[in-house]
Amino acid sequence: MKNLMKTAAAFLLGIQVCACSQVENKVSPAIPSDPEIEANIRQWLKKMTLEEKIGQMCEITIDVVTDFEASKKNGFTLSEAKLDTVIGKYKVGSLLNVPMGIAQKKEKWAEAIRIIQDKSMKEIGIPCIYGVDQIHGTTYTLDGTMFPQGINMAASFNRELTRKGAEISAYETRACCIPWTYAPVVDLGRDPRWPRMWENYGEDCYVNAEMGKAAVAGFQGNDPNHIGEYNIAACMKHYMGYGVPVSGKDRTPSSISRTEMREKHFAPFMEAVRNGALSVMVNSGVNEGMPFHANRELLTGWLKEELNWDGMIVTDWADINNLCTRDHIAASKKEAIKIAINAGIDMSMVPYEVSFCTCLKELVEEGEVPMSRIDDAVARVLRLKYRLGLFENPYWDIRKYDKFGSEEFAKVALQAAEESEILLKNENNVLPLVPGKKILLTGPNANSMRCLNGGWSYSWQGDQADNCAGAYNTIYESLCNKYGKENIIYEPGVTYAASGNWWEENTPEISKAVAAASRADVIVACIGENSYCETPGNLTDLTLSANQRNLVKALSQTGKPVILVLNQGRPRIISDIEPLAEGIINIMLPGNYGGDALANLMAGDANFSARMPFTYPKYANALATYDYKPCESMGQMNGNYNYDSVMDVQWPFGYGLSYTAYQYANLKVDKPTFTASDEITVSVDVTNVGKMAGKEPVLLYSQDLVASTTPDNIRLRNFEKVALQPNETRTVTMTIRGSDLAFVGYDGKWRLEAGDFKLRCGDQSADLKCSETKVWETPNR
Ligand code: BGC
Repeated sequence: MKNLMKTAAAFLLGIQVCACSQVENKVSPAIPSDPEIEANIRQWLKKMTLEEKIGQMCEITIDVVTDFEASKKNGFTLSEAKLDTVIGKYKVGSLLNVPMGIAQKKEKWAEAIRIIQDKSMKEIGIPCIYGVDQIHGTTYTLDGTMFPQGINMAASFNRELTRKGAEISAYETRACCIPWTYAPVVDLGRDPRWPRMWENYGEDCYVNAEMGKAAVAGFQGNDPNHIGEYNIAACMKHYMGYGVPVSGKDRTPSSISRTEMREKHFAPFMEAVRNGALSVMVNSGVNEGMPFHANRELLTGWLKEELNWDGMIVTDWADINNLCTRDHIAASKKEAIKIAINAGIDMSMVPYEVSFCTCLKELVEEGEVPMSRIDDAVARVLRLKYRLGLFENPYWDIRKYDKFGSEEFAKVALQAAEESEILLKNENNVLPLVPGKKILLTGPNANSMRCLNGGWSYSWQGDQADNCAGAYNTIYESLCNKYGKENIIYEPGVTYAASGNWWEENTPEISKAVAAASRADVIVACIGENSYCETPGNLTDLTLSANQRNLVKALSQTGKPVILVLNQGRPRIISDIEPLAEGIINIMLPGNYGGDALANLMAGDANFSARMPFTYPKYANALATYDYKPCESMGQMNGNYNYDSVMDVQWPFGYGLSYTAYQYANLKVDKPTFTASDEITVSVDVTNVGKMAGKEPVLLYSQDLVASTTPDNIRLRNFEKVALQPNETRTVTMTIRGSDLAFVGYDGKWRLEAGDFKLRCGDQSADLKCSETKVWETPNR
């Protein structure tokens, strides 16, 4: 959390340092080590003082070294004196965050990084590593390319687009001399109340794993030991289980079983780490009473030892202090540091002061933190810096990054926005809207760059986007460009308050919108949420605001067809107004090109091809995910006790329409009987039977019909997006390993059990049989 909670008297609950299963490390290293880098690290460890080592483990926010007086006059300016203290005296090895809370020009960034690096090399001889949250494009750089948020990238079901987006972000981050981003975000957004639903790739662990892998490849390139001049280091976050707080509120406790943790929440981290991810940030929360930052079993055991991973673990914001001030598992900050470092934290995002350095030094001198742990942590920090080439080039000439903010990059961002906006309803073919019609454009989201982008956009809360993104089009501007200004009647009816809390709305002017409707042929109501980020985005009611629902209700009375555009970070409940609309488009948070993409899609100049990456709830007390257990949805029983169990959702995971129709046929499986080690090839013919070209995400699901613990209803196992012209048929081939169909049993072990399975794809299904039970004795498959 950005603001530390007040320190209350801490209860010393003590901490159970888990005797991690000493995994015999037969697992080959997740990232093969580079002998030259390792030799260099050994040299450094020999010659560094304890203070210098601890400095490498400390990360401080840029505010601490900012000269605010000078900055007021000349824009962001570093303070020489503060750099002397932080880098000169305390040998701090990492800085983070955006200065002054607002995106900077790339030249400003590069100038600051040069000063920091000159200081670092002079004082320590080791480059600083600067990290920033470029989570959907160049979040914190002006004039760069902003992509849709993670939730939209998931909806595109297009891995290559996600990879390309990350590659462009890496390029543009390098163009600021910044080598490290706190992305991709692979929390499973499994609770629609949670205010960070939109940062990650939806509710499914496979989608998060696949998109996470694609993003890591885009950010880092192909060789994790030698990150190229157009690439940066990724930081997977937040490790792990962040997306399912019991209360639905950010940074509140979760209650995830070990089984579910291993099978679902760990999956994206494991995949990305095995594919070279260089760093991981820890979940700020608490599971079953144990803060993740104190959990040696998960940090050292699962991540470092089991996967044989030599990457670096950084805390989230102030989270070591939180073990004391918030979670009360440590009596003092010093004790909190001991717990976290012994659990496996390598770098503390402290971020406001340097007492971490003095406390940790005392702990080592008192024998409370072993020197071996310090050396291990420092080796991991130095390794990351070597892998990034920072020792040879602590900063670089940014002039060669001439594609920054280019048309070429903009095209990819526009494509991503188009492929990520989901058509949910299209009664009477109300869409596409052909030019010539008069459109009443209404709703608080109709003319706002802030709403299109969401949080982490130019500022943390995203509230400065309208000042910073004037060059891009709001929905209103895009529709004017597409249909002619004279055809757009803009009357918002409901508006967000310009200052104050993100959810506050001005006194509504619904009657004005209703009056304007008489001049229109069709009504486009852009509703949803204003931007927010993290804990300030907490909610008490998932239902869409009363003003906005009243606006839609009143407009529907006019008899003009209503199209809803949902522009929101999480699925606000709209079950009372959904029946009033003929068309519904869920654009979520599509970024700077979201308005243009919407106009292209509405006009039929582009086709919809996105699918729901989460389950859209219909009622507040009926939240669900697609991989629910069978007992959550049951038909009626016989006899007197003839109750049923109905799962009633607004739109299911995987749902989405387009302007064309696809037919599936000939689902074939090459091995109807399989074992864990088999690779199963599945093929299906998909035909575009409509009149418009389109792209279809082909989703392959499995069902385990009987298992020793109640199986998930259904699970996504692969997907492929195919482009099809009208009348074109393609045979889509996907593979799965037999072991992909395994689950984690009650005993915490992966198991694939002999018995019947079904594969499903479109309306097709195929039966298959596992001939042999396999139980894994290793922690991972
Ligand atoms: C967020 C992280 C982010 C960090 C640094 C924290 O508050 O939880 O996602 O990377 O701040 O800005």
